[in-house]
Amino acid sequence: MTEARKILVTSALPYANGSIHLGHMVEYIQTDIWVRFQKMRGNQCTYVCASDAHGSAIMLRAEKEGITPEQLIEAVRREHSTDFADFLVEFDNFHSTHSDENRELSSLVYTRLRDAGHIATRSVTQYYDPEKGMFLADRFIKGTCPKCGSEDQYGDNCEKCGATYAPTELKNPRSAISGATPVLKESKHFFFKLPDFQAMLERWTRSGSLQEAVANKIAEWLDAGLQEWDISRDAPYFGFEIPGEPGKFFYVWLDAPIGYMASFKNLCARRPELDFDAYWSKDSNAEVYHFIGKDIVNFHALFWPAMLEGAGYRKPTALNVHGFLTVDGQKMSKSRGTFVKARTYLDHLEPEYLRYYFASKLSRSVDDLDLNLEDFVQKVNSDLVGKVVNIASRCAGFIHKGNGGVLVTGNAAPELTDAFLSAAPSIAEAYEQRDFARAMREIMALADRANAWIAEKAPWALNKQEGKQDEVHAICALGVNLFRQLVIFLKPVLPKLAAAAEAFLNVAPLTWDDHRTLLADHNLNAFTPLMTRIEPARIQAMIDASKEDLAAETNQPAGTPDTGNGELKKEPLAAEIAFDAFAAVDLRIALIEKCEFVEGADKLLRLSLDIGDEKRNVFSGIKSAYPDPSKLEGRLTLYVANLAARKMKFGVSEGMVLAAGPGGEEIYLLSPDSGAKPGQRVK
Ligand code: MSP
Ligand code: ZN
Repeated sequence: MTEARKILVTSALPYANGSIHLGHMVEYIQTDIWVRFQKMRGNQCTYVCASDAHGSAIMLRAEKEGITPEQLIEAVRREHSTDFADFLVEFDNFHSTHSDENRELSSLVYTRLRDAGHIATRSVTQYYDPEKGMFLADRFIKGTCPKCGSEDQYGDNCEKCGATYAPTELKNPRSAISGATPVLKESKHFFFKLPDFQAMLERWTRSGSLQEAVANKIAEWLDAGLQEWDISRDAPYFGFEIPGEPGKFFYVWLDAPIGYMASFKNLCARRPELDFDAYWSKDSNAEVYHFIGKDIVNFHALFWPAMLEGAGYRKPTALNVHGFLTVDGQKMSKSRGTFVKARTYLDHLEPEYLRYYFASKLSRSVDDLDLNLEDFVQKVNSDLVGKVVNIASRCAGFIHKGNGGVLVTGNAAPELTDAFLSAAPSIAEAYEQRDFARAMREIMALADRANAWIAEKAPWALNKQEGKQDEVHAICALGVNLFRQLVIFLKPVLPKLAAAAEAFLNVAPLTWDDHRTLLADHNLNAFTPLMTRIEPARIQAMIDASKEDLAAETNQPAGTPDTGNGELKKEPLAAEIAFDAFAAVDLRIALIEKCEFVEGADKLLRLSLDIGDEKRNVFSGIKSAYPDPSKLEGRLTLYVANLAARKMKFGVSEGMVLAAGPGGEEIYLLSPDSGAKPGQRVK
């Protein structure tokens, strides 16, 4: 008997700034499967996560919406929690980095690093927005590319020619926040002396803590030599103030990983069996794993272990790094409708379909993985419905009708149960190694064998012969037992299906070791369909809804930014434009001849416009404000006539009508004074 392992597992903390999408779900589903596997094996496994709640992006978004950052992060935290729960991702704790525990731990880590001499300070000169009164991160500065002259490029790289540069090299720089011309200003910054940890990191990154591809990437950085890391930001900033340094805040990436510890600490207060020090002290015998995407490896493989070492804590046992999600072989795309939010998926499809599909694709590799929508439907329908659930539905009827729902004792095919038993260690090893793809292949191979055996025995044919009923019951009893084994093996991936199967089998929650036994002389409950096939139409509906999300975002009345919750109260004025830019917009008076609902669209109205000599068809995301579209018929409004047409699911939208307001019920269509004629140009 080996002793139960103590395992702490984390997924990256999602930014409390936007919605969860299917790309994120790769990680949370991967982690959840591994955690459920460990729990089923009887290990003390704890899965914590949190909202990543700090930083200037969150501060500015809250400001834009006219709410406090605390209100914003709490609303997003709740949205994320529900999304995860509905995908059957079961955290032991989903906390926030904006918490008391994290403030204390961040201060403690920092002061320990400082007292050990690992913090340096020096003056840094940076662009500053004099109107807004804040220093500008590179992405908040825009200007003309110094290499190719393209306008409207970000402070660190040009999207047109690919050049990278310092923000001070940009021509005509301006603040993307206020539009003001930034000025250079000096301020004191705090640096974490990462080079102090070069030797430790060289050892740690080669100690089996990283997948080989990741270790190789890190080796490139280590060979190039490490730089000190700027961990401070000046006020105004939404985050934690640095102890003893008024007006200076921890950079969000300093306190974010400490948020893993903070979430665990918060949980320890509720769970007497968990002891914070037993997991985090230097001599801890617990295991700590961080599941992350490949984009945030530098923070987790360099800064984080160095911070832990410098502050006297243990380092992670390993990082589990995954690649990025593509859909049908391409980057997720809003216009193709493949940028699917978690909620949009859940509105149309069952979470376990995706959990199984991701499981069938996930391995230890850091390569990107593809959600091929056709393959998705085919695989789920053929494996889960056609192979696994089918065994139970084929056998249950005969047992209920012929034997009062009682499974008879005996083993009709020992060679088959032996094969299942001897496959278990290899399946468990594949789960342990995070090679879920191999686990799924081996499980489906067993399902194939079970189905082939039942097909060969053909209980439905035997049942028609006289005197063969005992044989039928023996075959079906084994069929149900084999189904039970498959459910045990699949339970980390399909917890909901497993719960439904446990109800049907009339058994306590199944653990991994239950695969060693067979049910005998046992009463079954009524069989209810455990999973239905994916209708391909549901996929199309999900893609269409994702396109509509986008349409509603971009076809909102001009000047109404997407706020996520329609709570926008004030909106800073946009950057100044030259007269030419304004003159390029062909604004016309339009008569709304017809206005109607669009079938299948939640947010859009279809407007038929008369613009003098021509008719135009426009879709506009203003339905929430005009529940009775006929009221708009006969009204004059302002219309952007030379906007590029956009092909949408419901047809082509030609141009845009103008309205003001924050959204929801508050959208006000603009109208000219009476006397204006359709087609007249607005000047
Ligand atoms: N807040 C940071 C993490 C801090 S951890 C101390 C962050 N947040 S995130 O919301 O952008 O991403 C959360 C996780 O989702 C990351 O591990 C990221 O790699 C992963 N993914 C985000 N988009 C993804 C795909 N399209 N595909 C796969 N994983 C993706 O980074
Ligand atoms: Zn350029």
